[in-house]
Amino acid sequence: MATTTRSLAAFSSSTSAASRAARPGPSRVSISGAEREQARRLVAEFDRAVPLACAVTPPSGWYTDPDFLQLEIDRVFLRGWQAVGHIWQVKNPNDFFTGRLGNLEFIICRAADGKLHAFHNVCRHHASLLACGSGQKTCFQCPYHDFGLIPVKVATWGPFVLTKFDDDSTEDNVDHIVGDEWLGSASDLLSTNGIDTTLSHICRREYTINCNWKVFCDNYLDGGYHVPYAHGALASGLQLQSYETLVLSGDHNFISKSLKDSEQVQMEDIALCEGVQRGLESPAYSVGRYAPSVEMAMHHFHCLLHANLSV
Ligand code: FES
Repeated sequence: MATTTRSLAAFSSSTSAASRAARPGPSRVSISGAEREQARRLVAEFDRAVPLACAVTPPSGWYTDPDFLQLEIDRVFLRGWQAVGHIWQVKNPNDFFTGRLGNLEFIICRAADGKLHAFHNVCRHHASLLACGSGQKTCFQCPYHDFGLIPVKVATWGPFVLTKFDDDSTEDNVDHIVGDEWLGSASDLLSTNGIDTTLSHICRREYTINCNWKVFCDNYLDGGYHVPYAHGALASGLQLQSYETLVLSGDHNFISKSLKDSEQVQMEDIALCEGVQRGLESPAYSVGRYAPSVEMAMHHFHCLLHANLSV
């Protein structure tokens, strides 16, 4: 079982001590040949060529096997761009937040001159973490013996802060290419219709969920199939035939009611996901089926992941 944690956090404009040590690139998890072989066997147990109507879901090992998770961390999370935060978290000079992606600790920060930076949040001397949580700092200094930080590629796209741990290029400002690299052909569509950077960032909440990360993704990708059954309060407030989105800026009652409702749905989903994870670990379960009329996005997600892990 893996723990899915929505957590983020921070930054430094001072890397002077960094020059005291060599500049390594500690970006990847290491996977032995035997572990990779076991993970590859599990990847091959899903057949993305089978049409949705008769496809079976990936085997439970995709959600429970530690070697498979290591392969995912290496192939999915530590390659290419990852959204790690919102630009409002580093809105002002000296703002920072910290976070963890797989086994990588990182800091995002905005320097006094307004430039955004990202660093591995681990000291290159004896591995002390340099910062935690979020807040304001003018420089990051190891609390142990005062060594510095290893930089990571960072960019913004719309309201998102993104990092890329496997990029050693020296190009500095990559904001103009990150959309295409991250989203491919969807970046134009989303920037035209789906991304509103004028929306205010109200708050950030973190939840630790005892399930594999895909269980939570699957929960969002069942086309609303579970909403009437699992989210009674939410379902009673939705009229999907006339569903529309309104933006009510500055309406504090609306904001606090939305946060309260969202919290309820979140806790209901956590209970569902943790129940699914326990079921996936049962020897009585191996693969499931899709509901073709609603779970096409979930099937698409599994096919994309299969393609990624098969390369
Ligand atoms: S562990 Fe950071 S300076 Fe020694």
